[in-house]
Amino acid sequence: MSTEVKDSEARAKAAQHLEAERPSLEFGGAWDYAPAPEARDHVRLEKAYRLFIDGRFVAAKSRRTFPTINPATEEILARVDEAGAADVDAAVRAAEEAGRKRWSRLAPAERGKYIYRIARLLQEKSREFAVLETLNGGKPIKESRDVDVPLAVAHFFYHAGWADKLAYAFPRHRVAPVGVCGQIIPWNFPLLMAAWKIAPALACGNTVVLKPAETTPLTALHLARVVQEADLPPGVVNIVTGAGETGAHLVNHPRVRKIAFTGSTEVGKIIQRALAGTDKRLTLELGGKAANIIFEDAPLDQAVEGIVNGIYFNQGHVCCAGSRLLVQESVAEAVLAKLANRVATLRLGDPLDKNTDVGAINSKMQLTKIRELVAAGIDEGAQIHQSSCAIPEKGFWFPPTFFTGVAQSHRIAREEIFGPVLAVMTFRTPEEAVEKANNIPYGLSAGVWTDKGSKIFKITAKMRAGVVWANTFNKFDPASPFGGYKESGFGREGGVHGLRGYVELE
Ligand code: NAI
Ligand code: MG
Repeated sequence: MSTEVKDSEARAKAAQHLEAERPSLEFGGAWDYAPAPEARDHVRLEKAYRLFIDGRFVAAKSRRTFPTINPATEEILARVDEAGAADVDAAVRAAEEAGRKRWSRLAPAERGKYIYRIARLLQEKSREFAVLETLNGGKPIKESRDVDVPLAVAHFFYHAGWADKLAYAFPRHRVAPVGVCGQIIPWNFPLLMAAWKIAPALACGNTVVLKPAETTPLTALHLARVVQEADLPPGVVNIVTGAGETGAHLVNHPRVRKIAFTGSTEVGKIIQRALAGTDKRLTLELGGKAANIIFEDAPLDQAVEGIVNGIYFNQGHVCCAGSRLLVQESVAEAVLAKLANRVATLRLGDPLDKNTDVGAINSKMQLTKIRELVAAGIDEGAQIHQSSCAIPEKGFWFPPTFFTGVAQSHRIAREEIFGPVLAVMTFRTPEEAVEKANNIPYGLSAGVWTDKGSKIFKITAKMRAGVVWANTFNKFDPASPFGGYKESGFGREGGVHGLRGYVELE
């Protein structure tokens, strides 16, 4: 009894003290951060970038080039060669010859050494790559620095380790490479996707022709320099830049043995149709519309951080983004109040600033698409909630946004927006949550937030999605396979599962 009194006295005193010590916030509103820009001169840009074929940078025979810009300022960073049919052909032939004469003949442990060397060089040049990724793609420097580049490095390290252990990955088989792999990647994680594609292919003894996305070719071309510096045999890695047409040349080239594609479901379908009836192998990693499910027993503050990370990370340009929030009705009001507060604190602006949370939209085209879907959300009767943050005058920007009053039939609940836009829906029972989460043509990822371990196992097992996170979101590891169900594609990347797409088993 007496201690209780003491305690409460102490608490009252402490509270008085705090009150006196608390700094006044009454001097002109919110505290502002001072600008903290990362230096641009970590990276030396060329005026013009050539294709990387057979170990050398060569001018495109097509004689065509295209500009690549910084989406945060619309400044032209460089001009880049556009590979035509003859250029793609040269790259594929170089890859074929390098595979036959050199790469596939090397002892697997030797191949591993080269991949380790790429990993180490990339790690040494982390800052340069992070700055370049942010300049060319618009993502915040803290993401390129802390997520994209370290994960790309980790991917090379991880797969270097597999190079001489394929017999353990596929026991009772003779393991052979597939041959030349054509790899087509998107603009949301340009360097990371290059690593996801190149590292397992090389570890399994294949050679590659990689086509980066047309808006973000620069980090892949800088990776080509790393490949040179690592002294890889010429032709093992080739990089051809260009848009969809260049990609189509690669898909349709008769000497390509496998296509690995990450991008839109629309283009994935075109590629699958093009390869039907051929003996080329195919893996597709396509769109998503993930459900992020918040149960009433979840730690709500952490869940709100997970919601924010799920949809506003990388401006929502994430195939596995948690773009559909399913929140249990009993806590919906509390969660949405917390979410609104949190969204108001997100800092949008200069992607090179270390305090920026939300960077630029990758391209004008993508901004147009986001605007169109947001307009559809308003037209169809959902309520829009949007951060009132200031929008820079130049460049492509979209404020963090969420919609309430969303019906499952709304376009914003069904289509991949690929922007910082969240559709919020509610549910009452776990069964209803599962039903709603799976009621979508996509199946790439999902998230479940609850305090109960048994509920985690029960719900995650019912998700028709390739990756399911529990009490976290958007976590990646090279040892963990990633890929989809349904219209999100097929095949896995990462982990032992990811090797399967790059080997012939006899
Ligand atoms: P996209 O699918 O057209 O582009 C991805 C890659 O495919 C790029 O390298 C592109 O040059 C290449 N490509 C385009 N057409 C091709 C063809 N016919 N044959 C071979 N390669 C081809 O994606 P886009 O147009 O940049 O974005 C449109 C929408 O797609 C986005 O709004 C988003 O919803 C979705 N998307 C999804 C991604 C994901 O990771 N799930 C990545 C990029 C876009
Ligand atoms: Mg497209």
